[in-house]
Amino acid sequence: MNVWRRLSGRRRAVALAGASALVAGGLVTLPVTAAHAATQCDVTYTTNDWQGGFTANITIRNVGDAISSWTLGFTFPDANQRLVQGWSARWSQSGRNVTAQSESWNGNLATGASTSIGFNGSWSGSNPKPTSFAVNGVTCNGGTPPTTTPPTTTPPTTTPPTTTPPTTPPPTTTPPTTPPGTKVDNPYVGARGYVNPEWKAKAESVSGGNRISNTPTGVWLDRIAAIEGTDNSQSNGPMGLRDHLDEALRQNAQYIQVVIYNLPGRDCAALASNGELKADELPKYKAQYIDPIAAIQADPKYRNLRIINIIEIDSLPNLVTNTSGNPGGTAMCDTVKANGAYVNGVGYALAKLGAISNVYNYIDAGHHGWLGWDSNFTPTAQILRQAAGASGATVNHVHGFITNTANYSALREPYAKVTDSVNGQSVRQSKWIDWNQYNDELSFAQAFRQELVRQGFPNSIGMLIDTSRNGWGGPNRPTAAGPTTNVNTYVDGGRIDRRIHKGNWCNQSGAGLGERPKAAPESGIDAYVWIKPPGESDGSSREIPNNDGKGFDRMCDPTYTGNARNGNSMSGALPDAPISGAWFPAQLSELMRNAYPPLS
Ligand code: BGC
Repeated sequence: MNVWRRLSGRRRAVALAGASALVAGGLVTLPVTAAHAATQCDVTYTTNDWQGGFTANITIRNVGDAISSWTLGFTFPDANQRLVQGWSARWSQSGRNVTAQSESWNGNLATGASTSIGFNGSWSGSNPKPTSFAVNGVTCNGGTPPTTTPPTTTPPTTTPPTTTPPTTPPPTTTPPTTPPGTKVDNPYVGARGYVNPEWKAKAESVSGGNRISNTPTGVWLDRIAAIEGTDNSQSNGPMGLRDHLDEALRQNAQYIQVVIYNLPGRDCAALASNGELKADELPKYKAQYIDPIAAIQADPKYRNLRIINIIEIDSLPNLVTNTSGNPGGTAMCDTVKANGAYVNGVGYALAKLGAISNVYNYIDAGHHGWLGWDSNFTPTAQILRQAAGASGATVNHVHGFITNTANYSALREPYAKVTDSVNGQSVRQSKWIDWNQYNDELSFAQAFRQELVRQGFPNSIGMLIDTSRNGWGGPNRPTAAGPTTNVNTYVDGGRIDRRIHKGNWCNQSGAGLGERPKAAPESGIDAYVWIKPPGESDGSSREIPNNDGKGFDRMCDPTYTGNARNGNSMSGALPDAPISGAWFPAQLSELMRNAYPPLS
């Protein structure tokens, strides 16, 4: 049963309006005893266009009899319109004709049910929308009643049925109270993770993607609308939080990873993942974002599922490193530091979500190439501790921390350790390490854990490391240290991380998939996880208009020569990327090619 394909609030309202219209017209009273299945469909097709490219979002609504699979067909009006990459269906194009066949998980469409699919395309000249759509060979006419229209003399029913099915029966079991302290120490141990079908379908649309498509990845709630699921976004899909949780139950998954990512003034030091909430919208964050998420996560039907929340990527460390007085400090970081939006927002999220007995909060804690210097290390741990005491939160609402989320730092650098020296000089002096106390993510995460405990977090906290894109395999992976001519030749010749500069973070060229998710891989580490779904962009290579609040950050432009935060280096970004969160198949191909451990 595809339980996740719940009608969203808005779509449900439309469907009910449609039903009452039918009641008023008297059609509902006619028993439907069709001898053959009547296909009726309604398709909406919207696009976000930019010069030469577009993303199309399509909703197919079944207004005929229930179907168990569908094939959508339409014709591009212009000969230069091309399908580039689609998702949530098997897509193909022949001449101007485009076909999308349902996947196993979205083929069933009950009467009145909808499903959303989409694709990235290209155009030149103009990008007109197709004017006609067919499902299973039948042209969609938006649910106009079949040709055998009932006689107009049918008297309208005066009393609409009072028991309108289907209603979800209320749970018969009384919701359990949620005593604190019933959480397991490491929610990953012995537990099977949830596979997001939206990401899985996109991964499988890329050649070879089926080798990794059953990997658990993070479900990003990157705006309020993502709680219900969206139809009109370039960066997230139609499944909402309940859809994912229901699908997790169906998969018999034991944990699901949800990314809480919508702080007021989000991403204050960059532009690519700017969000929808303004710096002063903390009340909205609480009431319209965290509260509804907490209400869903607390539903007793999910109580046996471990819900792991990854709390607010790249936020609190920005208050330490990207406020005035720091190279590259921004006015927005100053604002959200001064008005408490980040500290209080994170505190509120921790308190609300952490009060639920099966929910585990892991706060984002940057990465070594950001926080590994003494000037950043302890102050960041202190601000994390401050947030865990704000808005009703306590340290007991925090299960642990995650590092390297959506970043590219190598797990280990066996040939360039900070304790190495060349001709009597510490390699910490090299341009690459630049006096950092750490040169890889594992050593940083373990040390930062201890610092967090020193700052007052319980000794039971565990770390996660996002290894989705830190593999750096392929033919250029070093197998020995570099030449001992000087510290730079030594470090540059032997380092696993082959970015141009550690401050580079957008769609890095040469990167590969890293360690597959694994529980308790090292001391102090609860798991290696894939929170950033591989193949989803970090940001667009050029300005792309969108409704998702996403800006254009030149760190995603491969021609950009950098700023103070990346040592004025080239960005190292892949070309032709869509906005952050949007599907970027060329990146997934690159990540698979350079996977380490390699893919078989
Ligand atoms: C984007 C989100 C997206 C996430 C995962 C972030 O950079 O801002 O919209 O969901 O990446 O791809």
